[in-house]
Amino acid sequence: MTCIDCHTDEDALAAAHSDATSASKMLTKLKQTEVENSLCLSCHEGTLENLVSATEGIASVTDSKGTAVNPHSVLSSEQHAGILCGDCHSMHSDKGIEESAHDECISCHHADVFQCYTCHD
Ligand code: HEC
Ligand code: HEC
Ligand code: HEC
Ligand code: HEC
Ligand code: HEC
Repeated sequence: MTCIDCHTDEDALAAAHSDATSASKMLTKLKQTEVENSLCLSCHEGTLENLVSATEGIASVTDSKGTAVNPHSVLSSEQHAGILCGDCHSMHSDKGIEESAHDECISCHHADVFQCYTCHD
């Protein structure tokens, strides 16, 4: 795959690189960017619904109580709508998917329990 298979906003890329020449100093740190879920889905299963069916057997994301959840099935609810595919599938890091997925969940489920309103309102 090429970079612009995922980084499709060519206008933004052109602007970001407008002053760059082959003699420019290379940046050492990447700037934050986002890749929309719809783009990932255009190659992977087409829709979130299909992705959920295709990965029905996945139960590798668990909380401290042992509750196993398919990470794709929660994405359709309102509270989880802002989560990006790339938040778990980090495309430019070697971090394992199970670790990054769990990290993403407990960024809100701070008690490592996939439920709210059981301990406080
Ligand atoms: C399979 C899709 C995919 C491909 C191919 C891809 N990227 Fe990315 N890239 C992403 C996603 C998703 C992010 C944002 C989340 C992250 O950092 O993983 C990202 C982030 C970045 C960032 C910003 C860093 C950040 O932390 O947000 C840069 C710069 C970048 N990519 C450059 C490249 C270059 C250069 C190539 C080709 C060598 C490339 N990408 C190929 C998906 C991709
Ligand atoms: C242009 C098409 C394309 C886009 C866009 C794309 N992918 Fe992929 N992806 C592929 C292909 C092709 C493979 C390799 C499949 C294989 O080897 O069976 C792959 C592999 C993967 C795998 C590994 C699957 C496995 O069986 O281990 C994951 C996870 C994945 N992509 C997630 C993403 C995410 C998340 C994004 C968006 C940031 C994305 N992809 C964007 C085409 C794409
Ligand atoms: C909350 C974390 C999380 C998010 C968000 C997420 N995934 Fe996944 N995904 C996983 C985990 C965990 C697996 C299972 C990996 C494994 O066990 O090999 C997985 C597996 C996959 C696979 C491989 C399925 C296979 O056959 O092995 C694909 C493709 C994929 N995800 C695409 C996506 C796309 C596209 C999105 C965005 C719509 C997305 N994922 C969002 C955690 C996530
Ligand atoms: C942006 C914050 C946030 C993130 C990230 C998040 N959650 Fe949630 N989650 C919530 C909130 C808030 C609720 C309570 C929703 C309600 O009942 O109104 C909730 C409810 C749930 C529920 C019960 C209701 C439902 O929607 O099914 C499950 C299961 C769940 N989350 C699992 C997960 C898993 C697994 C992850 C990681 C893939 C995750 N959540 C990531 C905020 C988040
Ligand atoms: C297992 C019990 C437990 C669950 C489940 C739980 N919490 Fe909490 N939460 C606590 C405790 C204990 C505190 C207070 C101690 C602290 O600040 O760490 C707290 C504090 C908070 C606070 C800070 C409140 C303040 O006034 O500072 C927020 C916000 C919060 N929780 C949100 C959530 C959300 C959202 C969920 C679901 C995603 C959730 N909690 C699930 C136990 C829980």
